Amino acid sequence: MKHLLSLHDWSKAEMTECLTLAARLKKELKEGVAHPILKGKTLGMIFSKSSTRTRVSFEVGMYQLGGNALFLSSNDIQLGRGESIYDTAKVLSRFLDGIMIRTFRQEDVNDLAKYGSIPIINGLTDLLHPCQILADLLTIQEHRGDLAGKKVAYVGDGNNVAHSLLYGCAKMGMEIAVATPPEYPCDETVVRQAMADAEANGGKVVITNDPAEAAKGADAIYTDTWISMGQEDQKAEKVKSFSPYQVNKELFSLAKPEAIFLHCLPAYRGMEVTEEIIDGPQSVVFDEAENRLHAQKAVMAMLMG
Ligand code: CP
Ligand code: NVA
Repeated sequence: MKHLLSLHDWSKAEMTECLTLAARLKKELKEGVAHPILKGKTLGMIFSKSSTRTRVSFEVGMYQLGGNALFLSSNDIQLGRGESIYDTAKVLSRFLDGIMIRTFRQEDVNDLAKYGSIPIINGLTDLLHPCQILADLLTIQEHRGDLAGKKVAYVGDGNNVAHSLLYGCAKMGMEIAVATPPEYPCDETVVRQAMADAEANGGKVVITNDPAEAAKGADAIYTDTWISMGQEDQKAEKVKSFSPYQVNKELFSLAKPEAIFLHCLPAYRGMEVTEEIIDGPQSVVFDEAENRLHAQKAVMAMLMG
């Protein structure tokens, strides 16, 4: 394993190793034990979209691992003026030890890996958000124990977070039920691959348009914004389709009594989730945000160490 382009490429054993290492690094950090695994190494972080969590957690994570992180806004590097991915990959591979990239097209991330000679980490594309889901799995494990057999319900847009969640849960032998409006389904190829991943690892994938069906008996309920980055012009029409998919008290009551609430953030209270749920006692969204740091440190240690 050399890159983190998609969780579909990682085996269950690699994901388990990553979560175990993340938990260890988290514990060591809290105990004040230094772990300079990437001393002297540099991560380049290319951003073509905004970020709070991804940017800060990668930069702080790299620092805690003894290395450096370089923030590269695509507007400020020649990539934004039309330099090719091919040349960018070749050149950056001569300076850096790894690249984290947040951009629009998944193909650009794949090409960076294809043409470069250093590990590439997908920090979100229109299609996928694998780093987020490693942090989510760590959070579920911390709050609900062993992942195998647990049910996660994702209610909302069939987007990048939903896609990586499908792969991640399927690979870990969990049940993942995704409820989207019929007009905003998950990508067909992702669903097909996740079903195969589930079959191979003892998991289960349920795709529905009924939020109640997804939420019933879930150990965790997950949602994300209805308007992803780059979709701002679709806001009015999307909000109309999505209003029956809000995570509120009524929907949450269908889950297990001890269920947790997850959201990758940024959240829009009163839209995809009500205040009483996201700010309520069963919400673990800030643990989830913190776990971005620990999970990504494990990813960097595994790929760049
Ligand atoms: N969840 C997440 O990726 O947040 P940012 O967009 O702030 O990085
Ligand atoms: N689906 C959201 C996730 C943000 C972290 C987006 O792509 O904007």
